[in-house]
Amino acid sequence: MDWGLRNRLARIIKPDTGRTVMLAVDHGYFLGPTTGLEVPRKTIEPLIPYADTLMLTRGVLRTSIDPSFDIPIVLRVSGGNSILKDDLSDEGIITSMEEAIRLNAAGVALSIYVGSPHEHQTLLNLSKLVDEGEKYGIAVLAVTAVGKEMARDARYLGLACRIASELGAHLVKTYYCEGFEKVVESTPVPLVIAGGKKIPERDALELTFKAIQAGAVGVDMGRNIFQSDSPVAMIQAVRKIVHENATVDEAYNLYENIKASS
Ligand code: 5RP
Repeated sequence: MDWGLRNRLARIIKPDTGRTVMLAVDHGYFLGPTTGLEVPRKTIEPLIPYADTLMLTRGVLRTSIDPSFDIPIVLRVSGGNSILKDDLSDEGIITSMEEAIRLNAAGVALSIYVGSPHEHQTLLNLSKLVDEGEKYGIAVLAVTAVGKEMARDARYLGLACRIASELGAHLVKTYYCEGFEKVVESTPVPLVIAGGKKIPERDALELTFKAIQAGAVGVDMGRNIFQSDSPVAMIQAVRKIVHENATVDEAYNLYENIKASS
């Protein structure tokens, strides 16, 4: 791995803790104006001071993020479908590597749909992106999206994460599940977890805690932060677990205190 790629990865995964709190705000690429992200700038700006990395599309980056913010960008570069389609796996590459470089991205993110109708196409997309990422020193995050029929268990997620790393992804995003240690063990690159659908704050903090304990290097979390009653409090509570190894109680108390004082 060359210097540029290692440097970009070190901007995403903070070297002092070896962990990261990525803020995922890319949902609109197939969901449109997702609850909480109707006006992206309004939601995202107050959270930037507490995020290590922003994961978003070029459209939201250009229109809604001030270029003077000093935050690494992981650009969502796969898409081409909408929630109106039954099969969400029919994705292509929607943003070129040159554009990612022009936008000063530290990394690019692409979904793979293992076991879905377009599995093959999305795995080739990942392989092509890794070739380009290696060429220009841009980190590639593979997102192990789950098809509607797929179980989110250690066997399935372990399969998807291992395939992503075998194809050369530098970082993999997946879901927490029972037996997550096994998924971590069999994936030879760092893993971050998505939060998934909005759940009560304490439960989302518990999910974060368990994933970190099992060996995840952090989160790439969206809805459980920006749909929280207090997004600014929630992201700080998540940080406390990810970077300070706080317990769920400590993190939840922090959430309650910040929420009460804001
Ligand atoms: C969709 C994504 C989203 O960014 C992802 O699901 C993370 O957000 P959340 O924590 O809301 O699940 O990559 O494929």
